Amino acid sequence: MEYSFPHYLLSKQSVDDRALNRNVIDSLKSNLPETPIRIIEVGAGIGTMFARLLRWDMLTKAEYILVDEMAENIESAREWIPIWAGQSNLSVERSGENQLRVFDSIRDIQIKFECADIFEFIQKKPQPADLLIAHAVLDLFPMPESMPKILSLTKNLAWLTINFDGVTSLEPTIDLALDEKIERLYHTTMDTRPTGGDSRAGRHLFSHLKTAGAEILAAGASDWVVHAVNGNYIAHEKFFLHFILHFFEESLKGNIELNVDEFSTWITKRREQIERGKLVYIAHQMDFLARTPLPEGEGI
Ligand SMILES: C[S@@+](CC[C@H](N)C(=O)[O-])C[C@H]1O[C@@H](n2cnc3c(N)ncnc32)[C@H](O)[C@@H]1O
Repeated sequence: MEYSFPHYLLSKQSVDDRALNRNVIDSLKSNLPETPIRIIEVGAGIGTMFARLLRWDMLTKAEYILVDEMAENIESAREWIPIWAGQSNLSVERSGENQLRVFDSIRDIQIKFECADIFEFIQKKPQPADLLIAHAVLDLFPMPESMPKILSLTKNLAWLTINFDGVTSLEPTIDLALDEKIERLYHTTMDTRPTGGDSRAGRHLFSHLKTAGAEILAAGASDWVVHAVNGNYIAHEKFFLHFILHFFEESLKGNIELNVDEFSTWITKRREQIERGKLVYIAHQMDFLARTPLPEGEGI
């Protein structure tokens, strides 16, 4: 199996569709300013959130800036968005390598692709957005110090979604003690990444947002729940599960607390569970909608 990260992001789409917290989305809908709006999405991957907002009729007229540091993701976004738009009866106009217009008689969105590290992008002081989106990415950044920098990208709303929050569950049990140990060690790798990260990012965002002066308008769980229906996983979710196990393998290989053969057998058994449609995967996550403080001097 080829573990392509852009393919993983595509396979994650249907899982995220189910997971995103509907109360938080309702709050986003009722707080969105009049169009046209400026949206900045950080860690945007291949652009599936952009497509989702159109699929869910949440975008009409907007400027949408997709920022991601991985060239492979931005390249995939440049290719995938026009294909998706064509299949969705939307017209596409390309104006230069990094700009795209996606439109029909009702919707008109100008997309800009920025292949950049988010913190370098922030240093360029881009015009703040009406809506900042950070989807499945905030749990990778050093906190709390990153929060004010990230919030400087918006003058109004921040929709911060799929923030991992300390619970991974794989069923059925293989060996309770080993399952729990692997889960614990996997979470520890999130907490000890040199670039930052937090395996309990979700719950900690309450205080990080407050400390940065943001007001939390809505919050709620956005758990991934992946299981087979009649023995089959829907859409690309079988690949998604194999990729999750790939994350386990990559982050835990060489871990001195794990016996190499035991871990390898555990991975093989989990992969067999996927093939038989038996594996149930749950990851607890949290979504937030926050309103950011106005920059000094711009208050009412
Ligand atoms: C788990 S993926 C989520 C991608 C996308 N939001 C989605 O859910 O499909 C995290 C993304 O954040 C990007 N990323 C991580 N650190 C970044 C940074 N410092 N600056 C910009 N992008 C970053 C990665 O390249 C990756 O595409």
